Amino acid sequence: MPATEFDAIVLGAGAAGLMCAAVAGARGRRVLLLDHADAVGKKILISGGGRCNFTNVNTVPDRFISANPHFAKSALARYTPADFIALVERHGIAYHEKTLGQLFCDGSAKQIVAMLLEEAAKAGVDVRTGQPVNDVTHTDGKFTVRFGDQHFTAPALVIATGGPSIPKMGATGFAYDLARQFGLKVVEPRPALVPLTLGGDDVLFRELSGIAAPVEARAGKAAFREAALFTHRGLSGPAILQVSSYWRHGEPVTIDLLPDAPSGWLLEAKRARPRIPLRAALGALIPDRLAETLAERLALPGELGAQTDRKLADAEARLAGWIFRPNGTEGFAKAEVTVGGISTANLSSQTMMAKTVPNLYAVGEAVDVTGWLGGYNFQWAWASGNAAGQVI
Ligand code: FDA
Repeated sequence: MPATEFDAIVLGAGAAGLMCAAVAGARGRRVLLLDHADAVGKKILISGGGRCNFTNVNTVPDRFISANPHFAKSALARYTPADFIALVERHGIAYHEKTLGQLFCDGSAKQIVAMLLEEAAKAGVDVRTGQPVNDVTHTDGKFTVRFGDQHFTAPALVIATGGPSIPKMGATGFAYDLARQFGLKVVEPRPALVPLTLGGDDVLFRELSGIAAPVEARAGKAAFREAALFTHRGLSGPAILQVSSYWRHGEPVTIDLLPDAPSGWLLEAKRARPRIPLRAALGALIPDRLAETLAERLALPGELGAQTDRKLADAEARLAGWIFRPNGTEGFAKAEVTVGGISTANLSSQTMMAKTVPNLYAVGEAVDVTGWLGGYNFQWAWASGNAAGQVI
């Protein structure tokens, strides 16, 4: 007769749930890990183009977005990139740094899932998948969960069911429903690390679909210097995905299209090559089709030598702060993560336990903590999973 009573039930066998369950199991707790999907860690498998960007060595708390910017500090300090790297190395998984501190497997993301499953098995975690989770109740200090047609109970429950980004992978807003059921607040969830869509006057830029260029993109106070990519719907690429997490409907996104050009470069071009048109001057620095579109928009026909210095200085200023007005995002269907989630005001930053419901915990993306692109979101999943796993 299989056990139906555990010390803790973890809902969601993604990055945070697997880590939490393995850590708690290693402490001798009897842990049940449940997931409605037919397999665990599906987002890990598709992450980083199949190579899983599993952490970022430059992890610092200000690379995480939350209504409370201090909330993530404690968990991140107690489980660092070095801790996860040590785990990866113990399992003999080869990895490399790609760029900007981002660590990827040399082989496959499957190795990270296999590693976490091995840790969970070693810790005696009971992992079950492929049934819906329903009817979560809390009476007499015990949580009861229906999984398919079975009921399980435990004095501790961890919500690790992630956010609603990429619903076709089994992502749901279940964490928020559960949180609300137990009286916890949810900060409005928004798609993040997501392409932006263009309409209106900006629609012309969609014709540049497939063209990428290094830029500095800004939304609000956030600025990212990386590549931007024009798409048939609007803007994507790392710089745009990063600012999308800070962008709000109605706000502009400002892009420096020539972040490496020195101040006064266009006047300098006029002096050096007065016979060339603006399009050619731009074409020396950025892809031809982008140069053509920008030159058309700037409407300075003829040779550079025929333009006044004033007009060229204005054109340079526009190129350094080109204003796009996105009309939306590609939504949760295309968002790598969700900004917002279970309010940190309702959770202990030390343990991730709900302040008003003893022994109810929330970890990972379900919580209102969202990292930058580049391994930060997994680091939050590991760190918050570890924080709860140490105490349940
Ligand atoms: P996660 O989503 O991993 O796990 C939640 C689990 O809960 C899933 O297994 C799901 O099936 C289960 N679940 C959901 N609803 C349920 C329900 N109702 N009942 C039962 N179970 C339920 N981050 C990063 O740091 N580096 C990277 O390279 C990438 N790359 C990347 C690529 C793509 C395409 C996406 C979509 C996302 C990324 N990310 C990333 C983000 C990263 O995948 C994400 O932040 C973590 O997976 C979050 O971990 P969690 O465990 O919180 O949720």
